[in-house]
Amino acid sequence: MSGFDVVDDLCIQDLAFAVSLLPSSWTLLVVDKDRFLKRCPVKRIIFDSIINLFLVYDLTSAAGYLQVSVPVVMQLVIRRYRPSDRDTVRALFSTGIQEHITPCFHNRMATPFCLAITAALCVAGYLLSSVLGAVVLAAAWMGLVYYCCHKIYSGFVKERLLTDMQDIPGNYLSRPGDDFWVAEAKLDGRVQILGMVAVKAKQSGKEKYGELMRMIISPLCRRMGLGFRLAQTVVDYCKEQGFSKVVLETSAIQTAAVGLYEKLGFRHVLSPSITEFPSWVVMLANVKVLRMEKQLSA
Ligand SMILES: CC(C)(COP(=O)(O)OP(=O)(O)OC[C@H]1O[C@@H](n2cnc3c(N)ncnc32)[C@H](O)[C@@H]1OP(=O)(O)O)[C@@H](O)C(=O)NCCC(=O)NCCS
Repeated sequence: MSGFDVVDDLCIQDLAFAVSLLPSSWTLLVVDKDRFLKRCPVKRIIFDSIINLFLVYDLTSAAGYLQVSVPVVMQLVIRRYRPSDRDTVRALFSTGIQEHITPCFHNRMATPFCLAITAALCVAGYLLSSVLGAVVLAAAWMGLVYYCCHKIYSGFVKERLLTDMQDIPGNYLSRPGDDFWVAEAKLDGRVQILGMVAVKAKQSGKEKYGELMRMIISPLCRRMGLGFRLAQTVVDYCKEQGFSKVVLETSAIQTAAVGLYEKLGFRHVLSPSITEFPSWVVMLANVKVLRMEKQLSA
């Protein structure tokens, strides 16, 4: 076995998800229902080399309220994109990127710059008019900041859905060195796509490298090692292609993605500026792009 992922303190949704995957011949014994509803002691998740997922329970700490007789196994398949995946993949991409709008807004509003402007507008609105004036001015300002955060992430999705994600076979499966994978598993009795990732071959002078793109994992199965496996698929593929490195771009607010890439050995190399949107939008949203790369040893 390789690629062990140790995950402490999985929450109830994770366990409920695991339970839904239990074959009927296997036993999950819940002794204390109240404690079962709190955090559950799933100790680690292991992916073996044949892409099965094992949830291994710590029976010592679970003693008294949870007992599992055998590991839970989910058949997880990482396979190349098929044209029939198109709608699901586009929807996954869209929600996976747009979920960053609200964190981006909260993050921005919590900065001293935004707090100072909000306070100043409240005071100005109150002095010029009334409490209502203060509320209206502050709300207008917050609406403007939200609009900018929305514009960047939604604009990115809109643009990509009309370009590379419009024709995935044409853009990712027709040139040597490019590829697009999905991860699927049986959930609630039907096979569902739970994640995706793509790679594009790039060249700079004589150097050939791969760019990892479109990495999204369904919220149904986050923090179970799936993102790691898909990213590792790209790294392995780039090594097979003889690429010198893997590069990618993400934004600083995507902390889960940054953590994932750092775990895989990617390092932050520069912060390119965003040129697709007006500079005032970028400034108000305060989105910082990170370019990361991982050198591949020969
Ligand atoms: C980023 C994303 C792909 C991670 O997928 P995942 O399957 O949940 O990640 P994994 O379970 O494989 O986690 C691997 C490592 O990533 C890091 N990580 C994952 N989720 C994290 C989180 N919420 N907070 C901090 N670190 C996190 C951890 O280092 C983790 O290792 P650990 O569990 O041993 O601590 C997923 O959260 C996602 O789809 N996010 C929305 C879309 C997105 O931002 N995509 C990236 C585009 S560049």
